[in-house]
Amino acid sequence: MAPLLSLLALVGLVSAGTIFQEVSVNGVDQGHGVGVRVPTSNAAITDLNSPNLICNTNFVQPVSQAVIKVPAGGQVTAQFHRTGAGYTGPDPADPIDPTNKGPVVAYLAAVPSATQTNVSGLKWFKIFESGLNEATHQWGSDLLFINKGNVTLTIPPCIASGDYLLRVEYIGLEYASSYPGAQFFMSCAQLSVTGTSAKVVAPSTVSIPGVYKSTDSGIVTSVFGISSYTVPGPAVFTC
Ligand SMILES: *[C@@H]1O[C@H](CO)[C@@H](O)[C@H](O)[C@H]1NC(C)=O
Ligand SMILES: *[C@@H]1O[C@H](CO)[C@@H](O)[C@H](O)[C@H]1NC(C)=O
Repeated sequence: MAPLLSLLALVGLVSAGTIFQEVSVNGVDQGHGVGVRVPTSNAAITDLNSPNLICNTNFVQPVSQAVIKVPAGGQVTAQFHRTGAGYTGPDPADPIDPTNKGPVVAYLAAVPSATQTNVSGLKWFKIFESGLNEATHQWGSDLLFINKGNVTLTIPPCIASGDYLLRVEYIGLEYASSYPGAQFFMSCAQLSVTGTSAKVVAPSTVSIPGVYKSTDSGIVTSVFGISSYTVPGPAVFTC
């Protein structure tokens, strides 16, 4: 009995996860896993100082060498599913268990080459956040669930052309009443941004790890009975 119970507990824990694994550009699906460093596991990262917080770890092999072309100002849809296998039929916990609550956040970092394996020391800027809507009381996670795992964001029209990593993250807050507790799920997509408008604006940037602190109100928080929530990290960059 005991081993069965612990197995169920383990399964319960693992089922909370989600994986960003597929990209569409202006509505055009790029293919499953194409241009995305897809982790094999949907397990959470909880250590704010871990290098795995950058782009995750233990990727599905071979890692895609595709670089996804996106026009500056274009719309990118990041697709999350419960496991790296994508949509595999009706599943009440796909893309996430709907009782899980938290924000969805996206960052970009300029890189010499979008396929480079070294992701340390990059300079990130936030381009999207979906926290708690105070009017509807919906979390980014609720919208992710309603939209069947799709989250659509705009690549700023004023960033310089060139290669970028797009880091899209879901932060699960059910266990976030103390640190470590908040659960981070992220992948990085490999982009080439083209056709920037004449006006180029250099965003101010942050480091990952480093941007999140165990004292942030968006990292150590209750999700129950709160009416407002501040998404951790910097303000969203605007042109
Ligand atoms: C999510 O995105 C995929 C890929 O673009 C698309 O095929 C699917 O229809 C989208 N689902 C929803 C519910 O918008
Ligand atoms: C990765 O890049 C950083 C920043 O440029 C550099 O300091 C570090 O030495 C690089 N690591 C490897 C293994 O190349």
